[in-house]
Amino acid sequence: MILAPLRGVTIRCFRATFAAQIREAGFTEAVTPFVSANAGVDPVKDRELRPLEGGGEPVALTPQFIGKDPQALRQCLLKIKAAGYARADLNCGCPFPMVRNKGRGSGLLKTPDVLRRMLEAGCEAMGPGAFSVKARIGVDRPDELLALMPLLNNFPLRHLAVHARTARQMYDGACNLAAFRDVLDVAKMPVVYNGDVALPLDRQNVAFAKVHDVMVGRGFVRSLAGREDAADLLRRYVEASLDELHADRPVLGRMKELLSYWKDFPRWRRRWQVAKMARSTPELLLAVADRSC
Ligand SMILES: Cc1cc2nc3c(=O)[nH]c(=O)nc-3n(C[C@H](O)[C@H](O)[C@H](O)COP(=O)(O)O)c2cc1C
Repeated sequence: MILAPLRGVTIRCFRATFAAQIREAGFTEAVTPFVSANAGVDPVKDRELRPLEGGGEPVALTPQFIGKDPQALRQCLLKIKAAGYARADLNCGCPFPMVRNKGRGSGLLKTPDVLRRMLEAGCEAMGPGAFSVKARIGVDRPDELLALMPLLNNFPLRHLAVHARTARQMYDGACNLAAFRDVLDVAKMPVVYNGDVALPLDRQNVAFAKVHDVMVGRGFVRSLAGREDAADLLRRYVEASLDELHADRPVLGRMKELLSYWKDFPRWRRRWQVAKMARSTPELLLAVADRSC
């Protein structure tokens, strides 16, 4: 299983704090939330890609890039390769109109010529079998990725991870398994299924037949809420985040974002009602520690 990139959630500090849980859940790889591949950017300086102290990353880490400039992507990849990263991923899935209308993220699915040059840059810089793509099934329609498969099949990709929704769907509505299978049927590279997978993994799920791997994001983050030690883990996450950011407000925001994934668990519903009003991390931790909730 691959841990999906969730910007603001499965970040470096999260991976360090929840390292044991990430390994225990069965992940063998994590993709970083996207880092911009813009001209002049040194991705090695990005906090997401700075090596973790101590035990290091819980599982193999694949940096993900977003952009539309092949030359800038090439330069970023050569830099991370020199820093010791053996593989990298291209974001062809970000659905936000601000991103996709500028031709980045899922917008690359609308500009096949730019996509082709990004894939050339990626495969050349990282080498065959070391560059992967994460895409939606389409932007407006569920068959747009399928139409691009003759192009994608020309490249020695490590894999193609497919979030089985269109960009227009954002993160809601049903995953389109039929559209996913159409892509799987014609793909020459290994295919990774992504979208609404809950943990523990149901290996009998028809969506996983013939897939190379499964990528899980929100299902893992939610599953943490069911743990007996969830409140302790959250406390450790607050401490690690304060060490990293040296400011209470962004840490508070980070914690509220995590708790928003936990709020549907009976044990966390009342705690969330109080925690979301917290104005500081001590207030938030008081709400979380309240055994009467
Ligand atoms: C808050 C949030 C941030 C995300 N950030 C990224 C990102 O940086 N790169 C990316 O490729 N996908 C990103 N995604 C999409 C997820 O990786 C994944 O494709 C999607 O959530 C569906 O999988 P899931 O149902 O297992 O979470 C993000 C999703 C969410 C909800």
